[in-house]
Amino acid sequence: MTVGEQARAGDKPDRGEPGVMAGKTPGVRETPPPGPGELQQTPQEIEGPFFRLGAPQRSSLLEPGDKPGVILSGRVLNERGTPIPGAVVNFWSSDLYGNYDMVGYRYTGYVVTDEAGRYEVTTVIPGYYQPRNARHIHVKLQAVSRPVTTQLYFEGEPGNTDDEYYHPALLVPCTVDDAGVKHGTYDFVIKQITEEENVTAESLAARVGP
Ligand SMILES: [Fe+2]
Repeated sequence: MTVGEQARAGDKPDRGEPGVMAGKTPGVRETPPPGPGELQQTPQEIEGPFFRLGAPQRSSLLEPGDKPGVILSGRVLNERGTPIPGAVVNFWSSDLYGNYDMVGYRYTGYVVTDEAGRYEVTTVIPGYYQPRNARHIHVKLQAVSRPVTTQLYFEGEPGNTDDEYYHPALLVPCTVDDAGVKHGTYDFVIKQITEEENVTAESLAARVGP
């Protein structure tokens, strides 16, 4: 299968498990309604064909000569709103022209949340590519949890609502500074494992916040 064929195959909607798809927006996996006092979990979206293990840990994905397009920051929270330190957050995107690097690791990297569950990454606003109409950054994150795969979209960019995977809960509110750099803030909410999932109370207490 060629990379192009993989791209087309990867962009087909993931049908997932029965009853969990949004239905009206192909490829978007809605998360269950929050319980009392809980936050809505971040919707999950397709991984696409371009995720690769082995990217370096780094808070800037800029290549030599790049101007920063967006400084993205926020926290990783569990469904009870507790910040998660040590969460691994992978980012990958196309370059300015919509091309993904399948040889090296351009515009790919991961960060680890600090003691307050915070992350920050600086990168470019990726280009468009067919069949996508929205500029987007792919994200895969994991803490004491299953891996969560999603995408983020940027406020102020045209095409968001023309994109079949766009979800308003994945829109990053942005401000723009005098240099034209976007500053976006986004908190991820993921479900951590629970004591019902074959974990001892002691090991869970050691790793999962309240
Ligand atoms: Fe993509």
